[in-house]
Amino acid sequence: MSRLKSHRANGAAASLRDAFRTDPERARRYTLALDDLRMDFSKCAVTDETLDLLAALAAETGVEDRRAQMFSGEAINATERRAVLHTALRAAADADIRVDGENVVPDVHAVLEAMGRFSDGIRDGSIRGATGKAFTDVVNIGIGGSDLGPVMATLALAPYHSGPSLHFVSNVDGAHVADTLAGLDPETTLVIVASKTFTTIETMTNAATARDFIVSKLGEAAVAKHFAAVSTALDKVAKFGLDESRVFGFWDWVGGRYSLWSAIGLPIMIAIGRTHFADFLAGARAMDTHFRTAPVRENLPMMLGLIGVWHRLACGYPSRAIIPYEQRLSRFPAYLQQLDMESNGKSVGIDGEPLATASGPIVWGEPGTNGQHAFFQLLHQGTDVIPVEFIIAANGHEPNLAHQHELLIANCLAQSEALMRGRSTDEARAQLLAGGASEAEAERLAPHKTFPGNRPSITLVHDRLTPFSLGRLIALYEHRVFVEAQVYGINAFDQWGVELGKELATALLPVVKGESDGEGHDASTLALAATIRGMRKA
Ligand code: F6P
Repeated sequence: MSRLKSHRANGAAASLRDAFRTDPERARRYTLALDDLRMDFSKCAVTDETLDLLAALAAETGVEDRRAQMFSGEAINATERRAVLHTALRAAADADIRVDGENVVPDVHAVLEAMGRFSDGIRDGSIRGATGKAFTDVVNIGIGGSDLGPVMATLALAPYHSGPSLHFVSNVDGAHVADTLAGLDPETTLVIVASKTFTTIETMTNAATARDFIVSKLGEAAVAKHFAAVSTALDKVAKFGLDESRVFGFWDWVGGRYSLWSAIGLPIMIAIGRTHFADFLAGARAMDTHFRTAPVRENLPMMLGLIGVWHRLACGYPSRAIIPYEQRLSRFPAYLQQLDMESNGKSVGIDGEPLATASGPIVWGEPGTNGQHAFFQLLHQGTDVIPVEFIIAANGHEPNLAHQHELLIANCLAQSEALMRGRSTDEARAQLLAGGASEAEAERLAPHKTFPGNRPSITLVHDRLTPFSLGRLIALYEHRVFVEAQVYGINAFDQWGVELGKELATALLPVVKGESDGEGHDASTLALAATIRGMRKA
């Protein structure tokens, strides 16, 4: 790392404009490809030496060895003593991946087959509600990894949607479940309760509300017909009173934020059908194969991760923005926030010792072009440098609106160009003078119209957003998070950081209800609770 830092301090690709001027091959040399997917990182301040140093860092930190351990089912989630095998969820049926000596692939495919039968039945109307009506609406109740993936992917794949309408409830705020159920008819509504642990308070509370919604109109006996459950905790699901055919399991070696490939993806399958879901898995599998086999310098997740490390550790950038120029990827940044920040937001290493360096950055974003009219001002002229990752498809799904897609592409490319090029004060002054401004006016305004430039971005281009390309894109980011974690020296697969808040919420509920004086809580928290209690109407 110190070599990378001094390399940075010595001014690696200090001027991107110059770098492009002096190397006409830069864009070609710094663009990686996997089929139609391109990753252009030429607008990042890197040189061949930077890439050599990053590849050396990957070797020193054992990324490739760790990768082999992950794919082969070793318990690399050391704090929870678990294998990390989301890749097995999209493995071919004849693959052999062992956990504790057992090949897990047959079970994976058995669950996929059960999901396929169930989703076929919901989609073709052969599985019906208690009063004999086909389901028109499916409500998925889950949170975090049991929600964000299905929400994101169902929206992303809207052009492939041919099943009933999908709805998602996650927040314990009663408004979420109330607004969602408001327009629905219990007779034609199927509820999926999705929770890896089947203990998450938000999900269990919303599930109880949804149960009341069904039972109040259709009676207790209807629960068996109107609910399905997805979980690893089949013993806990049993208490919900569902038939085996309505319960879809997965395994403790699937992390919540890596689970949309498992039965957690049931709502996606119901929306797009099992063939498209198979394409989605195939896209991820294609990225898995590439990640396992491509040399480091040609490997998209490796390089995306290593450039992420470059920006975070050598350049010291605290955040990165993900900007899909694709409205249907509007939940992709939120999905990546969990994937990345719940994985790499750690401050101790695998050995439990405090980290000597930073770990994962803040991840955020919104789709373009909307973001351009909101926070791009700061990206271009703010005092922080924030690397941006643009995602754009060459083709949309609306052939009659191709002119709008061209505008979208032009905007995406323009933003990365503007961030890289900037505009010097001399250029700003000259432009003002050319526009008829007086010398004094040009002098006055030029600093405000100056763009520092040299702001890094990566652009991911693919043909079109399809089930296959979405699967491939998600897997690219999963593996990038893995690569970065390995360099940071952390365990990306636990999430103890969410526990304390959960514990305190449980402890504070009696205080909020006025049933406890809250001894042991701090004065601010107690005063806030008292103030709110004083304002509560019911
Ligand atoms: O927020 C913590 C977390 O444990 C996530 O990792 C997980 O995706 C989410 O809660 C939901 O958990 P479950 O699927 O067990 O309800």
